[in-house]
Amino acid sequence: MTASPPEIGVGIIGYGLMGKAHTYGYAVAPRIRELPVCPRLRVISGRDAAAVERAARAYGVEDWVTDWRAAIERDDVDVVDICTPPGTHAEIVAAAAQAGKAVLCEKPLAADYASARAAADAVARAGVLNAVGFNYRRLPAVALMRRMVADGAVGEVRLWRATWLSDEFCDPDIPFDWRFERALGATTIADLGAHLVDLAEWIVGEIAEVATQSETFTGERADPAGGPARAVDVDEASSALVRFASGARGTFEVARTCMRRPCDFTVEVNGTDGTLHFDYARLNELWFGSAHDDAATYGMRRIRAEHPSHPYAADWWPIGQGVGYGTSFVNQAADHLERWPDGPWEPDLAVGARVQAVCEAMERAAAERRWVSISDVLSG
Ligand SMILES: NC(=O)c1ccc[n+]([C@@H]2O[C@H](COP(=O)([O-])OP(=O)(O)OC[C@H]3O[C@@H](n4cnc5c(N)ncnc54)[C@H](O)[C@@H]3O)[C@@H](O)[C@H]2O)c1
Repeated sequence: MTASPPEIGVGIIGYGLMGKAHTYGYAVAPRIRELPVCPRLRVISGRDAAAVERAARAYGVEDWVTDWRAAIERDDVDVVDICTPPGTHAEIVAAAAQAGKAVLCEKPLAADYASARAAADAVARAGVLNAVGFNYRRLPAVALMRRMVADGAVGEVRLWRATWLSDEFCDPDIPFDWRFERALGATTIADLGAHLVDLAEWIVGEIAEVATQSETFTGERADPAGGPARAVDVDEASSALVRFASGARGTFEVARTCMRRPCDFTVEVNGTDGTLHFDYARLNELWFGSAHDDAATYGMRRIRAEHPSHPYAADWWPIGQGVGYGTSFVNQAADHLERWPDGPWEPDLAVGARVQAVCEAMERAAAERRWVSISDVLSG
């Protein structure tokens, strides 16, 4: 009999959608990959005792608390996994780092660049393992896209194009919640756009400057507590032009007001030798057109990003069966646990802060109707 790997304790902060996704990730990770440690879901925190108790039972977490500080302080918690709204992240990261815990924080790292920078500085000072939850990097087709660009499949990248369209804000009768409050939920540029900015910088390289337009179509929403209507200070739809440091050009569009669009994101690169296109609704596929193809087969070919030679694919099902959204969280947990205790974890909070700087540059560009350099945000 082989000995079981040692256990490490995980504390989950927040029990909403991401609390569910992250606990699922830890539960399944040891089944898809041989890991040096076995994660134990020790505790989950939430402000509503009855709801967090229900979540603990449903997600297979051993205990629950109503104060996140109590989760961080526990000796049996080694990893603090933060799944609360963006405006709460920096304070929780700082407390976890000070307690010497490894930190995984959901995106966007914060609701503004100064807080994101403070969070990244806190983990650097404490010397703890840390990562930001850019889970889409860990879908096989997206990771394959990055590998193919790095291997020169499209030649020199000239254009980048990214869209994220959802209908979550279409209905003006949806009452006010944290997503409509910039200080807590961040902008749509940061909330949806952070994933796309991360993918752009990961696949193409650093963005140098941006120009943006933003709009909010429903300016106030009903107060769920019955008080006067609350003002919405979050953009509902934004689009940006960008220039990469390499000279490549790009566009981004993020919008939560697109009828019948549930969570549709696409990314595309056009290079001197080819094009790669990913469409999240068909997440097991990557489209590739090469300038070197025979003219008789002109067009884009559909790569099934499930071959064992493709990133992550060998951990999963036989080719043709496909993977889904939850897979990205399992891969994320497995990547981190595999590197316990020495790391490094990727992408780290410094990457999260850099992405936040690009998002803040986009917000400034929209407010001031001008091109904004990322270096201006980074230098304060
Ligand atoms: N990576 C992804 O695919 C993905 C998807 C959705 C959300 N997110 C991110 O995950 C984080 C959490 O989002 P979610 O969809 O799980 O949210 P959610 O509303 O489903 O859950 C939020 C959790 O945070 C707690 N919380 C703590 N302080 C709060 C406050 N002041 N106001 C409201 N809730 C508070 C809530 O009790 C709840 O447990 C956000 O940063 C969001 O941007 C990431």
